[in-house]
Amino acid sequence: MIRLENVSRTFETAEGMIHALSEIDLHIEKGCIFGVIGSSGAGKSTLVRCMNLLERPTSGNVYFEDVNLMNLPEAKLRKMRRKIGMIFQQFNLLEQRDAIGNVRYPLEISGVPKREATAKAKELLKLVGLEERMHSFPSQLSGGQKQRVAIARALATSPDVLLCDEATSALDPGTTRAILDLLKNINERMGVTIVVITHEMKVVEQICDKVAVIHEGELVEAGNVMDIFRNPQSDVTRHLLFPQKEGFEPAGHQRLTMIAEDEMRAPKVKKDLDETGLYVTEEAVWE
Ligand SMILES: Nc1ncnc2c1ncn2[C@@H]1O[C@H](COP(=O)(O)OP(=O)(O)OP(=O)(O)O)[C@@H](O)[C@H]1O
Ligand SMILES: [Mg+2]
Repeated sequence: MIRLENVSRTFETAEGMIHALSEIDLHIEKGCIFGVIGSSGAGKSTLVRCMNLLERPTSGNVYFEDVNLMNLPEAKLRKMRRKIGMIFQQFNLLEQRDAIGNVRYPLEISGVPKREATAKAKELLKLVGLEERMHSFPSQLSGGQKQRVAIARALATSPDVLLCDEATSALDPGTTRAILDLLKNINERMGVTIVVITHEMKVVEQICDKVAVIHEGELVEAGNVMDIFRNPQSDVTRHLLFPQKEGFEPAGHQRLTMIAEDEMRAPKVKKDLDETGLYVTEEAVWE
């Protein structure tokens, strides 16, 4: 579906050259939910923007359905981008348009007649559970509702892929879960391939089939989520899986349980009472 081949992106800045991405090879298969995880500044947004050429790689190739986007003239690229929807952490809605006006917008600019565009927009707002609020403006909606409008808008052109750059990072845990459930639903019901960029392992855990870990612009490892959870190959991944915080780390505990339930090789867990004597601290010991 999307294939990055030897993709690098550098930026010239006053402080010198920044290697945001270095020789990335990645294959996102049709129908999957693919996570890209890494810490802040790792290159995640640059990577996802290279997938639809919002950011042009300095070198390498980007294939969408076997078409090399790097070779397409601007007009053809714009057309191709309708097949690749995108949502963002800050929603990026048009403030002066109501919910239905936002969802209709991509249809209007691609020349769909108004009546047809309105019908499609209503259908999409229903899909994301917001038909009751179609005449509300972004300023009247909560973060989760705004992201639902953004998802409906991204789906308006019937894309094959939906790119999500930290789509839940501005939301509380409950709303995050609801939006991730919605994305999973869209993947399963509509067959839309989904790429999820995140710095949170719990997002990968909840919905992704595959995951790629990036660090300082380099691909550290990529594969099935369960394989990587069971047997991470790098310290970067281990740190993302089991962040060493003081005290009890429930997320780490759940992950170990999940791996153990799968009856596969799990790390040994060293348990200790912390200094208060109340909470068990856990540490994954990889041998
Ligand atoms: N337009 C730009 N000009 C110069 N440097 C840039 C530009 N865009 C990104 N960078 C640099 O490239 C590196 C990767 O940035 P990027 O935004 O892709 O990281 P990220 O993983 O998305 O981080 P975050 O989790 O904070 O969003 C950073 O060092 C950043 O400063
Ligand atoms: Mg980013």
